[in-house]
Amino acid sequence: MRIDIITVLPELLKSPFEASILKRAIEKGHVEIHFHNLRNYATNNYKTIDDYQFGGGAGMVMMIEPIDKCISELKAERTYDDIIYMTPDGQTLNQKIANELSLKGNLIVLCGHYKGVDQRVRDLFVTKEISIGDYVLSGGELGAAVLCDAIIRLLPGVLNDETSALTDSFQDNLLAPPVYTRPADYKGHTVPEILLSGNFPKIEQWREEEAYKRTKERRPDLLDE
Ligand code: ADE
Repeated sequence: MRIDIITVLPELLKSPFEASILKRAIEKGHVEIHFHNLRNYATNNYKTIDDYQFGGGAGMVMMIEPIDKCISELKAERTYDDIIYMTPDGQTLNQKIANELSLKGNLIVLCGHYKGVDQRVRDLFVTKEISIGDYVLSGGELGAAVLCDAIIRLLPGVLNDETSALTDSFQDNLLAPPVYTRPADYKGHTVPEILLSGNFPKIEQWREEEAYKRTKERRPDLLDE
């Protein structure tokens, strides 16, 4: 998989890809991440990428021309399965969307700033609009990092057995059950007996029950889906 991220703040985005699972996924060749600084595609000497909005009103709007130049350059090199725009009014990211996107080959992720991009960018180039939640961030970069993390950990070979994505919360519309590690007794607070029993079918059954209980308590909406 290849992900091209278009941003005015590449420095804000780099560190999540330089540690732990994402770093290893890149090193092992499961994914290529390329950052494109939108200012390099500005058409004037001042490197302007935004302007006042037509009709008046507070806040600047990202111009179509630099974005068109950047996307056109990328599309001339390869085909893209989706061009994703990170925006609070997009579809809210969930595990199903992450699963679907993890099956794609090449993606472009466009990070918005200020009041967002000129609507014509969305109409002409963007194929998917994604929000990471009902709150407004200063820009799309942190959302893009969240999206990439959710996708990349699902790529075959990225996680090993111990960190397998199959037992994650949401993967089967259930939250994950509680987990424990040593010591079995911490200041009188003990681990559920069943987990120490060695009876693996029973343990599996307990985990399923706990996952269901937790989901019913915290996210009953997931059980309706
Ligand atoms: N940009 C600003 N807020 C955002 C959000 N909630 N999700 C994705 N991109 C954003």
